[in-house]
Amino acid sequence: MNTLKKGLILGVAAISTFCGNPTKNNPNAEIDRKVDSLLSIMTLDEKIGQLSLYTSDMDQTGAFLRPQYIEDIKAGKVGSIFNAYGTAYTRKLQEMAVNETRLGIPLLFGYDVIHGHRTIFPVPLAEASSWDLKAIKTAAEVAAREASAEGLHWTFAPMADIARDPRWGRMVEGSGEDPYLGSLIAAERVKGFQGTDIHDLHTIAACVKHFAAYGAAQAGRDYHTVDMSDRLLREVYLPAYKAALDAGALTVMTSFNDLNGIPATANKYLFDEILRKEWGFEGFVVTDYTAIMELLYHGVAKDAHEASALALNAGVDMSMQDGFYMQTLADLVKQGKVTEKQIDIAAGRILRVKFQLGLFEDPYRYSDPENEKAEIMKSENIAAAHDMAKKSIVLLKNEKQLLPLSKKTKTIAVIGPLADSKRDMIGSWSAAGDWAKSISLLDGLKKKLPNAKFLYAKGAEITGNDTKGFADAVNIAKKADVVIMAVGEGFWMSGEAASRSEIDLPGVQEDLVKAVSKTGTPMVAVLMNGRPLTINWLDENVPAILETWFLGTTAGDAIADVLVGDYNPSGKLPVTFPKNVGQIPIYHSMKNTGRPFDANNKYTSKYLDVSNEPLYVFGYGLSYTKFEYGAIQLSSKEMKTSDKLTVKITLTNAGKMDGEEVVQLYIKDKVASASRAVRELKDFQKVFLKAGESRELTFTIDNEDLSFYRADMSWGSEPGEFVVFIGGNSRDTKSAEFVLN
Ligand code: BGC
Repeated sequence: MNTLKKGLILGVAAISTFCGNPTKNNPNAEIDRKVDSLLSIMTLDEKIGQLSLYTSDMDQTGAFLRPQYIEDIKAGKVGSIFNAYGTAYTRKLQEMAVNETRLGIPLLFGYDVIHGHRTIFPVPLAEASSWDLKAIKTAAEVAAREASAEGLHWTFAPMADIARDPRWGRMVEGSGEDPYLGSLIAAERVKGFQGTDIHDLHTIAACVKHFAAYGAAQAGRDYHTVDMSDRLLREVYLPAYKAALDAGALTVMTSFNDLNGIPATANKYLFDEILRKEWGFEGFVVTDYTAIMELLYHGVAKDAHEASALALNAGVDMSMQDGFYMQTLADLVKQGKVTEKQIDIAAGRILRVKFQLGLFEDPYRYSDPENEKAEIMKSENIAAAHDMAKKSIVLLKNEKQLLPLSKKTKTIAVIGPLADSKRDMIGSWSAAGDWAKSISLLDGLKKKLPNAKFLYAKGAEITGNDTKGFADAVNIAKKADVVIMAVGEGFWMSGEAASRSEIDLPGVQEDLVKAVSKTGTPMVAVLMNGRPLTINWLDENVPAILETWFLGTTAGDAIADVLVGDYNPSGKLPVTFPKNVGQIPIYHSMKNTGRPFDANNKYTSKYLDVSNEPLYVFGYGLSYTKFEYGAIQLSSKEMKTSDKLTVKITLTNAGKMDGEEVVQLYIKDKVASASRAVRELKDFQKVFLKAGESRELTFTIDNEDLSFYRADMSWGSEPGEFVVFIGGNSRDTKSAEFVLN
């Protein structure tokens, strides 16, 4: 090592030690001082290096454009690496950065830890179906423990994109259609990942994505254009990102789409105006995969230089994978198109996160192989995933109480292309999850009912038109007391670049269900899918239907628990199921229109060929018990903006089984300066009641719940009449009215 280099490394170490432990005293001021001292000894190229993020070749989530990433690390041309995990490998790369670059600045390791790292939890849309914020936070905590134990510092999650178009495959990565539910869940995920102290070894930095409005891609086609009013953006699409930032998320990712003509990655309004000036965000912004390069294809930049200038000037700090910042920023400074000060600001934001994570105190603090061994898939993690999986299941139909199955059932036919699948159980974006360790439905059932006789037939593939397996399936169905029919999508049919124009059961699966159903053997359909499906025939003809999404490592165990009643299903849909693709977008908080639906009047808002009603409404989900709602009692019929209105309702478990209910509260503003939704979700409680038990539940409504973007786009309430609705879904509710003075 030459003396100059040694001196500089010692210098950086001294900056770190001199400033003391960052978690004590005033951590932010101390870290800012450290960042400034470090920036003062960095060359322009070294600072630009901090603005670059490349994938390793260990795992890939897009085009592998930078095979020379190892050389880049050694040359100080890259500040962060993603798709590399495991203490051995991350340590090896970290040693290169620390020992072989002039300043020895540690790398930041990122990865898509979306629903678990090694222990895979249900896909995010499934977790959202639980409406169980505590369990969702625990899921993120476990993911962070496993990820940090494998050398990771940063996850590209939560995805806070509101999605109202089930054709869009990435709906599976989010929390569905509703901004209120989506906001609470995004915030909980951030708290789970980051904990209360990001310096803690078991936490990782969160990255809220994809900013902004990626979920509104036209026609549900991935990466497609988004064009929307500022009102819609602010009312529906922005709140969940904001909630995640208010919960402390340290980083934000740009989205691929253009928004009102300006690609997000070059969108000053989004990053400079809203994110930084309005919301005061101080962390760093990373692009999505090659998104600066894609500005060329969007047609807003003619070359790499123009693209980089647009992105940096919009407030984007780190480029993911395209290397455009590395290639162009030094030139752009020379040409006066960007300033070195801007680069200092961007590099400073990234270095600050590295300091917060403690990487300058010890670059290898997340590289302990003992801890790795202890944390990965430990029994508590599997138990948490199992708990989350049970809670994520939604019972859509249960005619004549076919479910739960008696544990004495003798012969069970388990049929369908997903019935014995392990790979599909962990869904898309399954990080470092090992599908071979997941439990298929058939395995779960066999474990649960060791004395039953199981007959299994695949029946058909997920896609394709081969019906040769039908005969076997029909044959075993005839011999069984009950058929468990596992149908749906392959794990690869949702997630990124997985849009569909039809959202029915793929291939010949519906025909398989019809053929087997002709045997007359009672049938339970177990759906596995990453988006709502148009399953009208099943809804009309199959007596029991369970929506299980993709439930992760313990899928088969969790489904078996519900099938036999060891767990009473409590999930509720976080997204509306349409009857057909033509109804899309369809969501619970629609506007009334000037010509609301009237069956007797042709000139009202409706279709000629399908009703306005969805197949299953938002918030819907059955239980094995029956919940009854009393009348709503308001503390007053009138309130002032400074008041809090108390809303009470008595919930009774009128069935024979203990169970949980998600009690949902919606509000409608009857007359306002801008048209309002027919209802908006404003609160909910998930309540456990023993069979026969009643409980009075209390909600509070305040002025914030009644506020909205008024005609002039100012935020606040307006006096007038409101309706409050409470119920177990967004349609079947009790209501009461009050006036805001
Ligand atoms: C996805 C992001 C993801 C990134 C890194 C992109 O293709 O859109 O959500 O975080 O890849 O893997």
